[in-house]
Amino acid sequence: TTRIAIFASGSGSNFQAITEACRNGLLEATPALLVCDRPGAYVVERATAADIPYFAFAPKSYQTKEEFEGHILQELARYEVDFIVLAGYMRLIGPTLLNAFKGRIVNIHPSLLPAFPGLDAVGQALEYGVKLTGVTIHFVDEGMDTGPIIAQQAIEICPDDTREMLEKKIHEVEHSFYPQTLQQLFSVKGEAAIR
Ligand code: GAR
Repeated sequence: TTRIAIFASGSGSNFQAITEACRNGLLEATPALLVCDRPGAYVVERATAADIPYFAFAPKSYQTKEEFEGHILQELARYEVDFIVLAGYMRLIGPTLLNAFKGRIVNIHPSLLPAFPGLDAVGQALEYGVKLTGVTIHFVDEGMDTGPIIAQQAIEICPDDTREMLEKKIHEVEHSFYPQTLQQLFSVKGEAAIR
């Protein structure tokens, strides 16, 4: 099966959903490694609890992105990773990783792209007053939340939705949508359908 590295910066609820889907067979993939750019993030505890190896690093302790992405590449090679899944990794992927994993990096973003890219997509949607937002899964390129779209799911914003309520709805969708979409992508049938 596909050996995936999950990249995350924060709580890691998507990391949890994906690794659980691997364990119960909904997603035929092996979570080989967590890569985390914030050593104190909660996602590291989740990896430890699930017995999944992790590489946590502080970008500040490197001179350049090229240098820390080079170190990430070494770890990806060591764990024989074939595919990178970004799940709340709040950092642009640079040429070092992009060139090594061309067409093999995907991201999830909490809006209907191309609306509301970048930081705080949920806050941006609420601020704008859209009635419909959602979740986008896309291939990663050098841009910020750009790259070919693989799948989207719409979510309604109701008039009295608070930020917390909307975030909860989005997370609930993400936790089933991401594993499902990855499964389609990794199965031959899905790959043909997407191309
Ligand atoms: C998720 O909602 C994900 O869509 C978002 O960060 C959250 C991470 O939550 N990603 C982005 O905004 C990427 N630009 P989690 O750590 O609980 O999985």
